[in-house]
Amino acid sequence: MVCIKVPATSANVGVGFDTLGLAVTFYGECEVELSDKLEITGCPVAFQTEDNLIYQSYKYVLDDLKRPVTPIKLQIDSDIPFARGLGSSAVCIVSGVLAANELHQLHLSQDELVKYCTQIEGHPDNVVPALLGGLSASYQMNDDIFFQHYPVDESYQFVAFVPDFTLETSVARGVLPESYPLKTVVANQAKLLFLLDALKTGDAANLDKFLDDGIHQPYRKKLIDEYDIVEHIAKESGAKGFYISGSGSTLMGIFTSQVDMKGLNTSLSTLKHKWKALDLLVDYKGAEVCHRTI
Ligand code: HSE
Repeated sequence: MVCIKVPATSANVGVGFDTLGLAVTFYGECEVELSDKLEITGCPVAFQTEDNLIYQSYKYVLDDLKRPVTPIKLQIDSDIPFARGLGSSAVCIVSGVLAANELHQLHLSQDELVKYCTQIEGHPDNVVPALLGGLSASYQMNDDIFFQHYPVDESYQFVAFVPDFTLETSVARGVLPESYPLKTVVANQAKLLFLLDALKTGDAANLDKFLDDGIHQPYRKKLIDEYDIVEHIAKESGAKGFYISGSGSTLMGIFTSQVDMKGLNTSLSTLKHKWKALDLLVDYKGAEVCHRTI
């Protein structure tokens, strides 16, 4: 049996739209073994079919390599919510690709794993950090996928504010303009460089200014009910930076000192929606695989 553990991810990180992604210490896990029929447990019944994204990703790799698609027994254990901007689909995709690699001893290289995961997801900004951990920039140019790690100072803590409502990426992309004024683009690219430096050095003095994106957040925040009040609560509690995780609906605060999670959750409990604050760090390991004999 193969056990696979994959971190959730927070894409974009403000000004890194469609480029940056951060792996965090919140995980989806599964156990998978070859079987004589497809059997999926540990997830809602609606996902216990051939359409399951972990199974579809497993099958994608084997089909591409023209290998027989042996059925699997798959036991899922994940609390990562769907459609909340925490990379739940990337977790499934990475799990399925790694399941194929391990169960069929494919010996895929890191680049091949990234390529398969990106082909299935359609973009690399969640799957790269989910696979490799840490903060990464990634971008697909024609057939080439480029990715690069960036350091994050260990003083930074991340608090995910996860609401009780979903936001589909297609909806969150649908509100974005087709084109942008030159000054918006220049501001974003300049802030991205300064953001990477602030994350590396731990100098959070201007972190919030460098996270202040003009490409997607101004349009998407309108889709996230109670955005302003959650930002206010986060900053009152000491957040040095705040951004929309992925395409939302989760919001992310960046802190440099011990966070009063109890106080934060008490403040959140007064809101209309049910928000859950998760205390997270950067995951540096990425996806992990172990083999277990039963
Ligand atoms: N970069 C993508 C977006 C992430 O913001 O639309 C979605 O997972």
